[in-house]
Amino acid sequence: MEKKDLRDLGIISLPGDPGYGSRFKELFNSRLYSVHQRIFPDGETYIRLTDELQDEKKLLIIQSMFPEQDRRFFEILQILDILDNYDKDIYLLILYMAYARQDKVFLRGEPVSARVVIRHITQNSKVKKIYVAEPHSDYVSKEFDRVHAINLIRIMGETLREKWISRRPIIVSPDQGGAERAKTLSEIFDTEYLIFRKYRDRYTGSIKTEAPENIDFVRGKETIIVDDILSTGGTIAEVASILRRSGSEKIYVLCAHCLFVSDALNKVLSSGIDKIFCGNTVKKFIEDPHIEYMDLSSRVGLYLAERLL
Ligand code: R5P
Repeated sequence: MEKKDLRDLGIISLPGDPGYGSRFKELFNSRLYSVHQRIFPDGETYIRLTDELQDEKKLLIIQSMFPEQDRRFFEILQILDILDNYDKDIYLLILYMAYARQDKVFLRGEPVSARVVIRHITQNSKVKKIYVAEPHSDYVSKEFDRVHAINLIRIMGETLREKWISRRPIIVSPDQGGAERAKTLSEIFDTEYLIFRKYRDRYTGSIKTEAPENIDFVRGKETIIVDDILSTGGTIAEVASILRRSGSEKIYVLCAHCLFVSDALNKVLSSGIDKIFCGNTVKKFIEDPHIEYMDLSSRVGLYLAERLL
């Protein structure tokens, strides 16, 4: 990627950053400030900005909120508190936003946790803009003026298309909430998409998946299941089993945030997945021949450079 000169931008990489800070330093010629983190014996989080801030006008904070979602969230609040004492324009990049799935009250008595996260970041802080990479839904960008979503699925799709130039996989969304992602990918690959239905029992968390009527369409074809998050792997495994039974020849997954909680990888692989393409948005990388991590840092950097220059 062509380098951009963003010397007027300082970068602060928080403990959840999976390496974008040092990549941006290289791409933008920007200064990267260090943060020291430790955990007190009772579990409390301590951070300290160890470098003296120089004269850059803009500061970009980078964080990803997995693993240890609550700690990562609190580090954002702590750094914003530190930066209160400086006259800078502050921007925040959240590579994985935790709690984004609780974007409404599903059962009486619940909080809207996505709102809790953004409210606390914006209230009483000078943060000018928050860039959230592939948020679960458009709730945060619609609800909060300062929040902008970065479409990682588009970036991943375009990258894959360059390699798969003559392939026409059928795109599959595991639920209606992911329909836009499937549409985006199908446009990139110039192919069709199918939308499954997913029903979640809000009390037990268990899911039931229903295939669309034209599922036979996948027979003998390659399919890509697209999703924002792979957590326990239950959603992907359910859809993959149906695709396999329906005769899909090869089944791939393209997912922005691969959390791989507990035995998710085994679950997904035993459902018949051939390969999983993951974004590098969280600080957890599993080495496995079935997983391919896509380094999205240059494209995300370019997106930000165009907006922060
Ligand atoms: C939910 O609607 C999300 O888009 C993902 O489908 C979900 O979070 C995946 O979770 P799991 O891997 O635990 O099924």
